[in-house]
Amino acid sequence: MTDWEQRYRTGDTPWEKGTAHPAPVAWLAQNPLTGRILVPGCGSGHDVRALAVTGAEVVGFDLAPSAVEAARRFPPIGRETYVCGDLFAPPENWTGTFDGIFEHTCFCAISPDRRTDYAAAVAKLLKSAGRLLAIFYLDPGHDGDGPPYGCSLDELETLFSPHFRLIEEQENLPTFPGREGREILRELAKR
Ligand SMILES: C[S@@+](CC[C@H](N)C(=O)[O-])C[C@H]1O[C@@H](n2cnc3c(N)ncnc32)[C@H](O)[C@@H]1O
Repeated sequence: MTDWEQRYRTGDTPWEKGTAHPAPVAWLAQNPLTGRILVPGCGSGHDVRALAVTGAEVVGFDLAPSAVEAARRFPPIGRETYVCGDLFAPPENWTGTFDGIFEHTCFCAISPDRRTDYAAAVAKLLKSAGRLLAIFYLDPGHDGDGPPYGCSLDELETLFSPHFRLIEEQENLPTFPGREGREILRELAKR
């Protein structure tokens, strides 16, 4: 199992790009997420701050205290906050309180045997008809034991369709070098 705190403490963080993913930045300009937004596995919070620009109340959530500390060191953009905790055991009073969830490199970091739990966890946190905007890493280019773990389109369908319906998707995203053609952006609505 990955020791995320240790990865941050030793600077072994190849996912840390110093900026938000470019695809949602473009997407959100056309389809803003409004209200209260959760970013699970937010790391140092670049995506959180990109979302906060719109004025939304954005909560970055991460298991690793060092990631949350790093996120809090950035100058505030808007109404963003950061909370340290486990997506599989979030605060009880968060149930059904989020209008939107933005997923980027949290799902692919979680052990594949917890994917059913992941889909149920994000659905539980959303309000009725809440939206999940996700960048899924389909093919990280390795079959190795550790994260990032790829996921087929068929598996995404199986995992998320009990809780969500697909609104829209985009392939061939603008992305970071090395990830070209390996990701898909999906906007889903809670059933
Ligand atoms: C690959 S990193 C990506 C971080 C950030 N999304 C980014 O792209 O820079 C995965 C993140 O998920 C966090 N994480 C892993 N399991 C988690 C869980 N069960 N609950 C909350 N965060 C988790 C890790 O601490 C880590 O910060």
